[in-house]
Amino acid sequence: MKRLMITGGAGFIGSNFVHYVLEHHPDYHVVVYDKLTYAGNLDNLRDLEGNPRYAFVRGDICDAALVEQTVREHKIDTIVNFAAETHVDRSLMEPGSFIQTDVYGTYVLLEAARKFGLERFHQVSTDEVYGEVLDGASVETDPLAPRSPYSASKAGGEHMVHAYFVSFGVPATITRGSNNIGPYQYPEKAVPLFITNAIDNLPLPVYGDGTQMRDYQYVWDHCEGIDVVLHKGVPGEVYNLGTGVETRNIDMARQVLRLLGKPESLIQYVADRPGHDRRYALNCDKIKALGWQSRHTFEQALEKTVRWYVDNEWWWRKLKTGEYLEYYKRQYGERLRQR
Ligand code: NAD
Ligand code: TYD
Repeated sequence: MKRLMITGGAGFIGSNFVHYVLEHHPDYHVVVYDKLTYAGNLDNLRDLEGNPRYAFVRGDICDAALVEQTVREHKIDTIVNFAAETHVDRSLMEPGSFIQTDVYGTYVLLEAARKFGLERFHQVSTDEVYGEVLDGASVETDPLAPRSPYSASKAGGEHMVHAYFVSFGVPATITRGSNNIGPYQYPEKAVPLFITNAIDNLPLPVYGDGTQMRDYQYVWDHCEGIDVVLHKGVPGEVYNLGTGVETRNIDMARQVLRLLGKPESLIQYVADRPGHDRRYALNCDKIKALGWQSRHTFEQALEKTVRWYVDNEWWWRKLKTGEYLEYYKRQYGERLRQR
């Protein structure tokens, strides 16, 4: 395993993973294959330009011909699939692109893995496929019960991965990660949205009563966990990756404000997300047995994340223009007016 095609490598977690791999495996080559949707950003990879172990291909994972050409030309032996439409709120506005990329696109990549006899296919999935978990914590054998178009598409992709393992012997692994935070996260997700709004003294729109809970993990820890599964995981198996500790959204919002020295009056409760999953929670015993556990607590992860956004306005300020503002108006305009 030395020549990785990292799909979605220009996005948030994918670009962190590219850096992780190049830093930790000096003999590996990485090809980023990315469509550059609104969430893909070459700024995330700009320090790698000219690196002989890195190449970039702009392409859609649904484009079988270009996927195959890339695998062939770059002598790829491993695909790590991060490419996806990823935002729950956008999946409520227009589910079609989620089904196309997260299900059909995964199938296209699996076909390439089968055709070229790749050493490994790794699917980056999410704790959201379990659906909301009001008590206890999900184990890998729990049934999938997704409730949003995003999580249903991710579950569909996972089922195809499993089917290709069982039916065709594609050596595939799956990880189900909890919510990530850290550098290069597009400012539509709750944590970077709240941080960048707070810096600009704009409202922090908290859905519903703010008591929904998420397990927020530092992105670098997640990347390390994926790397452990790539090297020590067993094909056909699924691994949960998270901290095992959940935080309420309202507490996350308060901590963001505290870290930035901003008043709690910036918090605005707004109309809830339809079908909002109240809680996700992961049991991570299986990956711990492979020697991985999350290194950052939520507080440490949030502090580093806030510091990064404070220090890197060049990266996010230009994103909060154009298409982003249209999306923001559609998602929050009425919600913020209703108050
Ligand atoms: P992101 O939205 O930041 O990035 C997605 C990337 O995929 C972008 O670079 C985009 O251009 C690319 N992409 C989208 N459609 C494509 C297509 N059809 N062909 C090629 N490239 C395409 O996403 P992220 O937050 O970095 O998430 C990465 C993966 O991790 C996703 O599969 C997501 O489901 C999973 N995941 C995310 C989280 C999280 O908290 N963000 C948690 C667990 C799992
Ligand atoms: P988000 O970052 O969209 O991730 P998830 O995929 O887990 O939904 O949202 C994290 C939590 O924050 C989730 O419970 C929804 C909530 N949230 C808000 O309260 N306000 C917001 O503006 C957003 C985007 C999310």
